[in-house]
Amino acid sequence: MHKTSPGGDLGRPILSARGLIKTYGRVVALDGVDLDLYPGEVLAIIGDNGAGKSTLIKALTGAVQPDSGEILLDGQPVTFRTPMDARSAGIETVYQTLAVAPALDIASNLFLGRELKRPGPLGSVFRMMDKKAMKERASASMAELGIGTIQNMGQAVETLSGGQRQAVAVARAAAFADKFVVLDEPTAALGVKETGQVLNLIRRIKAKGLPVILISHNMPNVFEVSDRIHIARLGGCAGVITPQSHTPMEAVAIMTGATTLDKG
Ligand SMILES: Nc1ncnc2c1ncn2[C@@H]1O[C@H](COP(=O)(O)OP(=O)(O)OP(=O)(O)O)[C@@H](O)[C@H]1O
Ligand SMILES: [Mg+2]
Repeated sequence: MHKTSPGGDLGRPILSARGLIKTYGRVVALDGVDLDLYPGEVLAIIGDNGAGKSTLIKALTGAVQPDSGEILLDGQPVTFRTPMDARSAGIETVYQTLAVAPALDIASNLFLGRELKRPGPLGSVFRMMDKKAMKERASASMAELGIGTIQNMGQAVETLSGGQRQAVAVARAAAFADKFVVLDEPTAALGVKETGQVLNLIRRIKAKGLPVILISHNMPNVFEVSDRIHIARLGGCAGVITPQSHTPMEAVAIMTGATTLDKG
């Protein structure tokens, strides 16, 4: 299943989806979509509202069960019945509706659902959490991602700025993923500076060797950070381009159906 592109040999995909179909009554959210994610790449998914972007990544990450189709992770067929199944397989997702718990502190948010327990019977029997270890690991992973502006890992997330909150969600994903990270519209609610920070995070995740699937409506962002661009349209895929092969205006034309891409 090797494939070449203008960028050269991409290797074997980490993730391949074939013929994903998902319908909601008469609405065809996914109409037989194929998608490949290659090692070390940032794959952008663009498309109009309702094109099926969120449904596609939900189907890839266990939040939605496709009606049919196949998903291969490292070449092996997988079925994710819940997002936790996908997380256990090393896939971390920041969904479009931001999932942080505002009243909890940063360290607790990072470890939500997989809190570190104290060593010995305190942890195993009394289920006491190891807050110190969580704060240390939280600081380390935020530092690794270059999020230096947050001083105190005990600060409640509701007191952070929008950009810092998003950074926490992305950092959580990056800290736990070992296959790839999925970000659905991570910058939609952010200002210019915060958007820049999240783009830097994406670059750092890529530099760590983790591939990223980035859903975004922001063409300049997409063209800045992505290696390849999957264009979702009407529940299907109108083609895959690169920032080198097409201009943002051409991408939008394909996205809206004004132009069609010759899928050679
Ligand atoms: N749970 C659901 N029940 C019914 N219809 C749904 C459901 N989820 C998605 N859809 C429909 O499926 C289609 C694709 O939706 P999806 O959310 O995947 O689009 P999107 O590309 O992410 O759009 P946006 O850019 O607005 O986020 C839409 O027509 C939507 O109304
Ligand atoms: Mg969406």
